[in-house]
Amino acid sequence: MIAERYVRFARTEAAGRSPLYEKLAHHVASSSVCLRFLEQLPPDRQQPNLLFGAVRLVTGTPTSPEALDGALLAHGGAIAAIMLSRTTQTNEPARCAALLPALARIEDPIALIEVGASAGLCLLPEYYGYDWGRQRLDPSMTDDGVFPIFECTASETTPLPTHFPDIVWRAGLDLNPLDVTKSEDMAWLEALVWPEHHLRLERLRAAMRIARKHPPRLVKGDLTRDLDALMAQAPQNAALVIFHTAVLSYIPHQPLRDDFARHMLASGAVWLSNESERVFPQFATGSTAPESGRFLLCRNGKPLAWTGPHGQSIDWIAPD
Ligand SMILES: C[S@@+](CC[C@H](N)C(=O)[O-])C[C@H]1O[C@@H](n2cnc3c(N)ncnc32)[C@H](O)[C@@H]1O
Repeated sequence: MIAERYVRFARTEAAGRSPLYEKLAHHVASSSVCLRFLEQLPPDRQQPNLLFGAVRLVTGTPTSPEALDGALLAHGGAIAAIMLSRTTQTNEPARCAALLPALARIEDPIALIEVGASAGLCLLPEYYGYDWGRQRLDPSMTDDGVFPIFECTASETTPLPTHFPDIVWRAGLDLNPLDVTKSEDMAWLEALVWPEHHLRLERLRAAMRIARKHPPRLVKGDLTRDLDALMAQAPQNAALVIFHTAVLSYIPHQPLRDDFARHMLASGAVWLSNESERVFPQFATGSTAPESGRFLLCRNGKPLAWTGPHGQSIDWIAPD
């Protein structure tokens, strides 16, 4: 079972995106060292991203199958400890480039809540720059003129923002909020960026620098139980906007996801969901993704756009 999982990861996730992870994942599937190591962990701690991130954190990036076996033989205890205490919490601030066209259409002052915020980097959209090809937007908030620029390919009909939304209050909810002021949390976020994705890593570091100066408020809690309490803290004189990106797939049972969707639709808030189309298949009807792996961006359950999973593209599909 573990071997099959790693072969599937190699073929469907790593192929074309990370030659190194593709090679290492195929190796894990046939390496007795790797399989023995993974068998001692609970099934929900055997994921490829968790293994590779933990190994990189302890020993640096293993650049060959032999180096991976060697790392597990020499440092198995430390690697297992990380895999048992950490989860995959990849925080991708570039997703703001795909969220902003939806956010910027809201004219009123916004009280913004991110569900599944990780370190909260997506809560700071006005601190970053954007390049959608035919349009750029420089940050409205900068301290020293240093900021990441997120490039995002936008389809012709995408309503590209000319200004930032007026975010007057913001907060994030996460099972395990990561702290931008803690070097060990930031090292974990860096280890989760796939090895060949140098530009993503550079921009992540730039966003982390900004977040350290302007740490977003993050609350520990479960989206299935603790969101109402946070919503109740939002100022009444602002439009409440609740968004999440790459989070609801962590809720394994569809009925729980559907409960969450019903709750959001009844909440009176603007609900922006940017998730794999498998998360809410009921909203994905009537439109086909331009390529596999895209996320579906919805506002209150109505599809707005297909987006690149790392915010690298947006194809607008809403009629207006
Ligand atoms: C892949 S990360 C995405 C982070 C961020 N939304 C982004 O797009 O960069 C998923 C995050 O969701 C959080 N998460 C997963 N299940 C959750 C739950 N039931 N309640 C709150 N947060 C959850 C995880 O802890 C993790 O930080």
